[in-house]
Amino acid sequence: HHFFDHNLPLKGKKALVTAGPTYEAIDPVRFIGNHSSGKMGFAIAASLVAQGASVQLISGPTHLDTPQGVERLSVISAQQMFQFAQDYFNKADIIVMSAAVADYTPVSVAEQKIKKHDDTFQILLQKTTDILGTLGKQKTDRQTLVGFALETNDELQNAKEKLARKNLDFIVLNSMRDQGAGFAGDNNKVTILGKDGMEEAFPLKSKREVADDIVQLIVQHQSAING
Ligand code: CTP
Ligand code: CA
Repeated sequence: HHFFDHNLPLKGKKALVTAGPTYEAIDPVRFIGNHSSGKMGFAIAASLVAQGASVQLISGPTHLDTPQGVERLSVISAQQMFQFAQDYFNKADIIVMSAAVADYTPVSVAEQKIKKHDDTFQILLQKTTDILGTLGKQKTDRQTLVGFALETNDELQNAKEKLARKNLDFIVLNSMRDQGAGFAGDNNKVTILGKDGMEEAFPLKSKREVADDIVQLIVQHQSAING
C-alpha cells in the first residue's frame, strides 16, 4: 500500500540532476569550456524538491547557490560528472541531464603551462563518454529519464533522433531563436517531446516556470509507471 500525498507527489522518490558546463583541462591554467550557467538544472532541482523528491545535483563549475534541500556534488570535467552520475543512477527514480557536457576533451593535459611558439597551434581532442546515452542503455521501466537538446538547425528532427537514440522518456528542446532565451539569462523557451509522441511548444517563461512544466510531466510519468 502506497500512501499518496497529493501535495507532495514525489515524496519518497530519488532524483538525479546534472547541471552546468564541464571544464576540460588543457594545462594547469587553461581549459575548454562553454557558456552554460547551470540555471536551468538548478531550477529543476529546486522544483523537484518542491514536489517532495530527494535530489542529488551533480554540477559543473557555476556561481549559483545550492537550492534549499538539494544535495550538491561539484565536479569539473565530463569524466568526473560521468563517474558520479553512474554511481547514483541505479538508486534514482528520476534522472534529468541538463548539463552542457563537453563532447571532446584533450587527449593529454600538459603538466606545465604551455608556452607560445608557432603562429598556429593544435590541440588533439578525443570524444567524452555520452553520459545520457550510457545511462539510457541501463534504464529500467520504473525510471523517468529526461534529456536536453540544443540545436541550431533541423531542431525538431534532431531532438526526436536524440530522444530515440538515448532511450529517453522526454527531451527538452531549447529554442535558440527567441530573444531572451538561452544559456545565461533567466528565461527560456522550450519544446518538450515525449517518447509516446507528445510534442508541446511552451511560451517564453522564467527558468523556474519551465522547470515546473518539466517536473509536472515527470510527476505524471512516475504516477503512470509506478502507480
Ligand atoms: N550529454 C551527456 N553527455 C555528453 C554529451 C551530452 O550526458 N557527453 C547529454 C546532455 O546533458 C543533454 C543531451 O545529452 O541532455 C544532449 O546534448 P547535446 O549536446 O544536445 O547532444 P549530443 O548527443 O552531445 O550531440 P551533438 O552535440 O552532436 O548535437
Ligand atoms: Ca553535445
